[in-house]
Formats: sequence, structure tokens, C-alpha cells
Amino acid sequence: MACKQAASPPATREPTGRRGPGAGAHRLRLLAAFAVVATAAAAGAATPDPTYAAGFERTRLLREAGRLVFSDPALSASGKQSCASCHDPKRRYNPPNGLDVQRGGSDLTAYGFRAPPTLTYLNRIPPYSNHFHESDEEGDESVDGGPAGGLTWDGRVDRGERQARLPLLSPFEMANTAHGVAQAVRAARYAPLLREALGARALDRDEDAFAAVTRALAAFEEDYDEFSPYTSKYDAYLTGRARLSAREARGLALFEDEDKGNCAECHVSRRGRDGSPPALSDYGLIALGVPRNGRIPRNADPAFHDLGACGPERADKAGQAAFCGLFRTPTLRNVALRKAFFHNGSMRSLRDVVAFYATRDITPERWYGKGADGRVRRYDDLPEEYQANVNRDAPFAGQRPGTRPRLDARDVDDLVAFLGTLTDGYLPRNPYRAERARAAARTAKAGR
Ligand code: HEC
Ligand code: HEC
Repeated sequence: MACKQAASPPATREPTGRRGPGAGAHRLRLLAAFAVVATAAAAGAATPDPTYAAGFERTRLLREAGRLVFSDPALSASGKQSCASCHDPKRRYNPPNGLDVQRGGSDLTAYGFRAPPTLTYLNRIPPYSNHFHESDEEGDESVDGGPAGGLTWDGRVDRGERQARLPLLSPFEMANTAHGVAQAVRAARYAPLLREALGARALDRDEDAFAAVTRALAAFEEDYDEFSPYTSKYDAYLTGRARLSAREARGLALFEDEDKGNCAECHVSRRGRDGSPPALSDYGLIALGVPRNGRIPRNADPAFHDLGACGPERADKAGQAAFCGLFRTPTLRNVALRKAFFHNGSMRSLRDVVAFYATRDITPERWYGKGADGRVRRYDDLPEEYQANVNRDAPFAGQRPGTRPRLDARDVDDLVAFLGTLTDGYLPRNPYRAERARAAARTAKAGR
């Protein structure tokens, strides 16, 4: 087994395998169900049985309500903030503005300490697991890929429904109470939709009304045309509908080259064996040693650290050193629509992000602050006892002050050009669906 031990063994098994510092570059392929096909098939079913038809109608109503819930500021304590305030549908559910982290709370003055992720491709995120095992043919099932999956930057929640509770109640997001949400939803114009879907009494009790809201949001987030469209130029390229420009193609090659960018080790860029489109993430939890963001008010306290999987937001790994500093690898789909990058929004351009990968360990003074002694504090958002968790696979492997970066300035530009091909909206519709329909028609013809 190709695991390396990380510095300090905690009580439970550690995150090992390729996610340990310097571990080998095992490609991890995501097995996430390729739900698009199932949905398309369900939608086209010719003679649905009555219970099935009722379920389908309930989902449709919940989804319609969920779309309205998502943009309803009445559900927040301030009366001014909705899910869309931080996850803008017009920017593929990325933040609407250039703030590093967003404001919330009852008077919209409370800052969080994390950047809102895109909500596109949520359905590709597997449930959280401490030990992700690949069972792709190419991979070795006995190799422990380490912790992966789960919603939020630290993977602490699993289902959309449970996730939606968080922002509704978080003091630095919508800051409401279950009672406040219930009252607002009873008065909302979508209340009749929820009652039709869930029953006439469905909004009578506070708990039920709150649950109706989170169910509607989860149903909306399962609208794959909206949230997982697969209409980027890269999808057009993968399905033979477009060519990449010379720069984009060069960027893709660097992205996949294990000795250059090696980005695809974590941000999976190839189609699955079943033809499923790449999610541009394996959703592994990794410590990249992202710089501390001094613009976040919480960081004015030098003792405060967002340590990702080991806390403070996530509770079940508290005190387990091997989980400190780990954040979930995000999808890079629609990343070019963001203005602040990484879990703490510390980077302001994609060019900086890629340059960080190229020179993190070569010119740390460019990225990190100085300590009281005037010396650069490498990985300055991670207390020293956890710094052994920081990943050193390529492009970081072998890099130290004085070595030549694996990526030069032109490489960085070409990688940024490639990242620009991952924005949805290049194609009018999901090309994989048409591909599958054609394949099914061919099979049917051959079987006649
Ligand atoms: C004030 C800004 C803000 C508001 C309002 C907000 N969110 Fe978020 N959202 C965030 C942040 C920040 C995160 C990352 C949280 C973390 O990692 O702890 C997040 C994470 C998520 C995730 C997990 C995404 C992933 O990739 O794991 C989902 C789903 C989500 N939000 C849905 C919602 C819904 C639904 C609403 C409305 C009920 C909402 N959000 C309102 C800021 C916000
Ligand atoms: C070892 C795994 C790994 C490799 C290799 C890797 N990444 Fe990442 N990437 C991550 C993780 C983990 C994060 C989130 C880190 C954080 O915020 O703390 C991330 C974040 C990003 C982001 C910010 C996304 C956002 O929504 O803010 C970009 C852009 C990105 N990576 C591009 C790249 C490129 C380009 C390469 C190759 C040069 C690369 N990554 C190589 C794991 C990896």
C-alpha cells in the first residue's frame, strides 16, 4: 500500500495515500453517479404509474417553489438577504461581487470567513468519507485516497436539505430562526405551491414549515439543467463540437502533465470510463497552505485560524492534527466567473492562483506575511504543528527558494486561458445527453 505517514498520528486512521505530504500521484477518478441520464430517462417515461406520476409532480412543485425560495430575502433576519445574494444565478451561483467573503447577519454587518463556493455541479460531490477508495479500473482499490467529499469547504454536511439549514440560521449569513423562517414562508407567494406539494397542513407547525423550505431548496438544487448544465467550451471540445485555441490547448496539456501543472491529479479533467463528463475535482480534502487573508475581520485576532476539516466550523475532527488545514478541492467549472479564490477568498485573480501553485515554495515572500522577527512565515494561516499536512505533490514537488518553477509566465497565462473554457453557456444544451441518445438509438437499431 502506497501510503506515507503524516507527522503526528491521531487516534483514528490518518488521511493517507496520495493526499499525504509528498505521496505519489495516484489519479483519483470520481464515481459519482451520472444522474443526468436517469433524469432524462425519467422525464421521458411513456406510461408512468400513478404513484410515480404523483412523486414527479411533487418534485416539480417543490422545485418551482425552491426557485422562488432561493431568491426570497424575506427568509433572512435582515429581510434583505437571500441565497442569491451570495450565490448569484447570473454568475452560475458564484458570489455576485468582488468581496473576499460576504456580509450577513440581522443588520448585514457580520462577516463570515469563507468565500461562497459556486453551487453548480453540487450533484457531483460524493458524500463525505475519511477514506476514499477508487474502484475505477485504472485505479487500485486498496489505495486509500484520504478524506474526500461532503458539502462546504470542510465537507461537514452531506445533503442539500441539511446544508440549507446552515445559511438560514448562521449568525453571519441569513441569521434567522426556525420560527422566523416559518412565519415568512406562510406569508410567501410560493406558500400555495408548498401546500400543494406537501399537504394542506404542511406549513402549520414551525418545524414542518422550515423543513418544507429546505426540501424545496434541495429540490431546486437538483434541477440539473440549471445546476449541472455541462455547456462549457471544454464540454464542446470533449464531445467534438469545438476546437480549443492554441493557448487553451497548451493550457490543457500543462494542466494534465504530471511534471508540469499536475492540476488534473486533483481537478479531474478526463471523461470517466462510462463517458461521464469530468467534474474538474475529485473532491479530496487537501492542505494547500493558502495565505492568510488579512482583510477578513475575524483574522484581526492572530489566535484565530480557520483550520478546515479540524475546525472551527467542523466539529467531528476537532483535535485530530492530520485533518488541520484541509479544505475540499473545488470544481473548476465556472471558476472564471469568480473574483475571489480559495476558501478564504485571499486571491483576487486566476493568474495569482496559478502563479501561487508555480511559486509557493520558491518565492514564499510573495505570498506570505512576516513574523515579529521580520522573517517570512511560510504557510502563515496554518500553525506550525500542522504544516506537515501541506501538500507537496507536483507542481510543488522539489520546489524551494532558488529552483526553477515548473510553470513559467507563459505557462501560467495558458493555464488561465484553459480555465476560461470551463464556463457554462458556450453551448445551448448538454451535449452528452444528445451523445447518449444517439448511442442508444444505434444500439436499438443494431438489435432490430
Ligand atoms: C452570506 C452569504 C451566504 C448566503 C446568504 C448563503 N450562502 Fe451558501 N455558502 C456561503 C458560504 C461562505 C459557503 C461555504 C461555507 C463553508 O465552507 O463553511 C456556502 C456554501 C453553500 C453550499 C455548499 C456548497 C459546496 O460546494 O459544498 C450550499 C449547497 C449552499 N451554500 C447553499 C445555500 C442556500 C440554499 C442558501 C439560502 C438558504 C445559501 N447558501 C445562502 C455563503 C452564503
Ligand atoms: C493536490 C491537489 C491539487 C492540485 C495538484 C491542484 N489543486 Fe487546485 N485546488 C486544490 C484545493 C484543495 C483547492 C482549495 C484550497 C483552499 O481553498 O484552501 C484548490 C483550489 C483551486 C482554485 C480556486 C478555486 C475557487 O473556487 O476558489 C483554482 C483556480 C485551482 N485550484 C486551480 C488549480 C490549477 C490551475 C492547478 C495546477 C497548476 C491546481 N489547481 C492543482 C487542490 C489541488
